[in-house]
Amino acid sequence: MEMITCADLDALSRTAASFIVDAISKQPSCVLGLATGSTPLGTYRELIKRFNHGEVSFNNVRTINLDEYVGLEKQDPNSYYQYMNRNLFSHIDIRRENIHIPDGTAGDLSLECIRYDNSLDRLDGFRLQILGLGRNGHIGFNEPGTPFDLRTHTVRLTESTRKANARFFKNESQVPESAITMGIQDILSADVILLLVAGASKEQALKTLMESDRPDEKFPATVLKRHKRTIILADRKARGGA
Ligand code: F6R
Repeated sequence: MEMITCADLDALSRTAASFIVDAISKQPSCVLGLATGSTPLGTYRELIKRFNHGEVSFNNVRTINLDEYVGLEKQDPNSYYQYMNRNLFSHIDIRRENIHIPDGTAGDLSLECIRYDNSLDRLDGFRLQILGLGRNGHIGFNEPGTPFDLRTHTVRLTESTRKANARFFKNESQVPESAITMGIQDILSADVILLLVAGASKEQALKTLMESDRPDEKFPATVLKRHKRTIILADRKARGGA
């Protein structure tokens, strides 16, 4: 794992966007593995800016999102489908058929997981995966204790994750209890992983990750130590600075 320390979240977002634009310029049909949550918002804003300045086109890019809440309709403002639309897709020239997000309302969730694995298997070429870091070490919604060899699966969200995500909902009781997530096996098959870590609330999680000497299912992000090219982009606050 490499670490790049950025002055603040804005600088981190510009750096992440540069990695993404660079990947697209080298391979216009590359695959972007995308995350939701607060941390990548600035990166998406920066990508929209660069698109508007004519620096990048997403016309041939394919995307695959990490996760989706179970039970939220696509139209629900809290669904990750809407999040991606609002914060990135509706502002750029990506083609709808190139976007992949799990369907949290599928009648048969096990079939939906298989369908999602199949989509992933068809996405050949270079894949750059964006990840955020959960305070409990989760990546995607792979919560502590998730076996590292799982592919797409449904997961019961932990209390701490539901609390952390309650800020997007009216109250915690509205946060769905489960989600569909890409598994760790598939996260690890990306060519390059960018782990975005910002803010003082992530300091402890980043410390735990850096100090662990081997992958441990109790803190899923530690599996990234096994990956061939993971770059951590952390801001100073996440590194314990002011
Ligand atoms: C989002 C996701 C989660 C978040 C993580 C950090 O698609 O899979 O793993 O990346 O919970 O969230 P933020 O960035 O809101 O702190």
